[in-house]
Amino acid sequence: MKENWKELENSIIDCKKCKLCMTRTNIVFGTGNKNADLMMIGEGPGADEDKQGIPFVGRAGKLMDKAFEGLGLKRDEVYIANVVKCRPPQNRVPEDDEVKACLDYLRNQVILVNPKIIVLLGSTALKNILGKEYGITQARGKWIEKKGIMYMPTWHPAALLRDENKKIEFWKDLREVIKKYEEIKENKNGK
Ligand code: URA
Ligand code: SF4
Repeated sequence: MKENWKELENSIIDCKKCKLCMTRTNIVFGTGNKNADLMMIGEGPGADEDKQGIPFVGRAGKLMDKAFEGLGLKRDEVYIANVVKCRPPQNRVPEDDEVKACLDYLRNQVILVNPKIIVLLGSTALKNILGKEYGITQARGKWIEKKGIMYMPTWHPAALLRDENKKIEFWKDLREVIKKYEEIKENKNGK
């Protein structure tokens, strides 16, 4: 556990804790508001993210940005990270040994951000954060509270590119998230 961002960021530079280090271009650590009440967690970097070192900048990310825009949420208001920080070859699902090696970074990010709400984008985020017993089709759209954090599992934005129904459900889930997020903000402001 690193107590601050500088230490955590320094600890990941040149990370070789798993085999994904051999094929990556850049480590994609995370981006956004480090004090956010709302955090989004994806699976792992794709080709564009690997090139730029920033999460969700490719096609899936553009779709997510569009949803944010439509819901009046600014990308830099939230904190965005992934389960694994290096791109799996051919965008395959990260393997268990890779997740195991990498997950401490994400756990540490969650502790430092201290969000009230975490949106789990897709099956990989759901299963590795809340447990393998969860399935995204069943779990999506429903709040799960754990250790004072409200989790909302939803579709991964890449899945929306292939399925119009999922797009509708994704928007619905994000609307729920925004509702709760606004409530939290209002409570903070003492209204
Ligand atoms: N898909 C993810 O899960 N994460 C990214 O950063 C980009 C695409
Ligand atoms: Fe290290 Fe994570 Fe990259 Fe593996 S995926 S090399 S554990 S930063």
